[in-house]
Amino acid sequence: MRQFAGRTVVVTGAGSGIGQALALRFADAGARLALADLDGAGLEQTVRQTRNLGAEVSARVIDVTDRSGVFGWAADVAQRFGAVHVVINNAGVSFTGEIERTEFADLERVMDVNFWGVVNGTKAFLPHLIASGDGHLVNVSSVFGLAAFPGQGAYCAAKFAVRGFTEALRMELRAQDQPVQVTCVCPGGVKTALVRNSSAAADIDVDVLAAAFDRDPGVSAHSAAATIFAGVRAGRSRVLIGRDAWLIDLTQRVFGAGYQRVLGPVGTRLMDRIRVPS
Ligand SMILES: NC(=O)c1ccc[n+]([C@@H]2O[C@H](COP(=O)([O-])OP(=O)(O)OC[C@H]3O[C@@H](n4cnc5c(N)ncnc54)[C@H](O)[C@@H]3O)[C@@H](O)[C@H]2O)c1
Repeated sequence: MRQFAGRTVVVTGAGSGIGQALALRFADAGARLALADLDGAGLEQTVRQTRNLGAEVSARVIDVTDRSGVFGWAADVAQRFGAVHVVINNAGVSFTGEIERTEFADLERVMDVNFWGVVNGTKAFLPHLIASGDGHLVNVSSVFGLAAFPGQGAYCAAKFAVRGFTEALRMELRAQDQPVQVTCVCPGGVKTALVRNSSAAADIDVDVLAAAFDRDPGVSAHSAAATIFAGVRAGRSRVLIGRDAWLIDLTQRVFGAGYQRVLGPVGTRLMDRIRVPS
């Protein structure tokens, strides 16, 4: 898909960060937008900004873990716009904590939003993407969906799952000659509110973690959105964002499972820095 003018583009997590920047990027390209977020105030801000660019926009406050809500929203979007061309399952949360100190409720919450939220969005919109005759599904994983990192067990589990789910679907749709492209996005550090809004195990100082993340030389949300936009236009199966993502991807390819000996000590040092002093 090379042109987006008049196409319907769906974005979850559109009230902040990468999702908001994606909405603006596609609005700028003339797309019609169906946006969702759990955060009504952030969503309203995105709606205002995209309407200022002249976009036709519909918005819904939705929790992506609410399966029937997501299915109802997909049906409403298809009915309102007539066709659905691009769906970007972007909503996500972060969590930091060593597995031994992570409660089941936290593991389940991260899986619910970051994995099941993507599954709900994919299953709800896939029939509409197929029906459009020219669809594109974009699921946002992470560089932590390519390589694991100490303190990110819950997040890695969800993001690895998103990548596996997405890549299997791409192969299935291609084998069935379905008119839907599939892209898995793996960002490295992107300067958004993700970590500042994150939850963490009881022994983690979230302020110190957020300050460390803010100091990290990540790319801007607008730059991330531009990279995703270009990847969708080019029909790429995988989109890496940022030099750190390329480096971690390379480390994983070069060392195989031995990448853990390279990344492990880096993550362990970071965990030591962000732990609440006992
Ligand atoms: N920022 C990074 O460094 C980075 C790196 C890799 C991957 N990612 C992924 O990129 C995606 C976007 O994150 P971001 O950095 O823009 O963060 P962000 O916090 O700025 O935006 C995430 C948005 O998702 C929404 N959201 C959270 N839970 C939701 C739910 N249950 N239902 C609906 N909406 C919900 C939030 O309200 C927020 O508006 C996430 O999937 C994240 O895991 C981010």
